[in-house]
Amino acid sequence: MILPGDHPQSIAAAAQALAAGALVGLPTETVYGLAANACDEAAVGRIFDAKGRPRNHPLIVHVADPSAVTQFAQQVPDFAQRLMAAFWPGPLTLILPRRPDVAAAAAGGQDSVGLRCPSHPVALAVLRACAQAGVIGLAAPSANRFGRVSPTTAAHVEDELGTELLVLDGGPCAVGIESTIIDCTRGVPVLLRPGVLTLNQLEAAAGCPVLGADAALARTTPVPRASGTLESHYAPAAAVRLMDAQALQTAVTMLASELRATQASHPAVAVYCRTPLKSAGSAILQRNMPTDAGSTARELFAVLRDLDQRGVKLIWVETPPPDAEWDGVRDRLRRASAH
Ligand code: TXA
Ligand code: MG
Repeated sequence: MILPGDHPQSIAAAAQALAAGALVGLPTETVYGLAANACDEAAVGRIFDAKGRPRNHPLIVHVADPSAVTQFAQQVPDFAQRLMAAFWPGPLTLILPRRPDVAAAAAGGQDSVGLRCPSHPVALAVLRACAQAGVIGLAAPSANRFGRVSPTTAAHVEDELGTELLVLDGGPCAVGIESTIIDCTRGVPVLLRPGVLTLNQLEAAAGCPVLGADAALARTTPVPRASGTLESHYAPAAAVRLMDAQALQTAVTMLASELRATQASHPAVAVYCRTPLKSAGSAILQRNMPTDAGSTARELFAVLRDLDQRGVKLIWVETPPPDAEWDGVRDRLRRASAH
């Protein structure tokens, strides 16, 4: 059931359901989350069941404001404080050492916990109403079935998880890809998952270098489990292939002439690209990729989901530009194409 997120009654209903141990589909600025009381082991178990996600994959715990962090984290390094001050509320998740007595199930049994204060007004309203009811954090992974593309509208959540779930509609997500994840448990910040924040922005705020997961691995072991870091995460049903503009044009030209010969009635191939293509014809479904990273991130998952629903078997995507702003989009496309 989808309720309008901007009605106070919807916020109250969601907070009441969450306090009672139920699941709620919640809009955030990044993607929609599937929320439960982070300190209620049975409720958290329902998230894993609904998603079909293994129970040892840790979930992100969402909080109403930075003051709630110390209720979950044992200590917060200075660079983490600075990152919070710069980017919260917003699309940044910090992995911090977990207080042993809280949110063990949400953390997938790890001795760390992922924390994020989202900026979406509906998420914040629900988090504040929950805090009033004694629920200090909401565990919320993306509201998709395990391994699938994250939902960026309330309707996507229903498609993924059914109409019985209470979902608050907060409109299409403004960011569109999941939060940047920084591991703050290793003495230096380590980037586990790129999002829309660039490395430059993160380092400027942290006041120190931010290591990539590979560099961190070379220094120590092991990098914590992060399901978002599995190679074939975020995959639509259609096979995704990344190609540069030239390879894409060659492939499209060859396919177009083949299709003219066979007169196929239904497009089996979709193309998502910035560079205009010659001779694609109507037998190939074409979607234009925006020329800026932010707009592409915003629509990326909805485009993949839409093309899937149109029944194409292949999605050919033009490789994103090498610039840092595209790191998050490039990461999601690389994973979607890693079959
Ligand atoms: O933007 C987002 O982060 C969205 C919205 C709903 O907030 N949430 C999201 O959650 O993407 P999920 O569960 O799909 O991805 C969370 C990622 C996973 O890769 C998980 O393994 C990692 O965060 N994570 C959470 N806690 C962790 C921990 N203690 N150590 C290492 N990784 C952790
Ligand atoms: Mg996810």
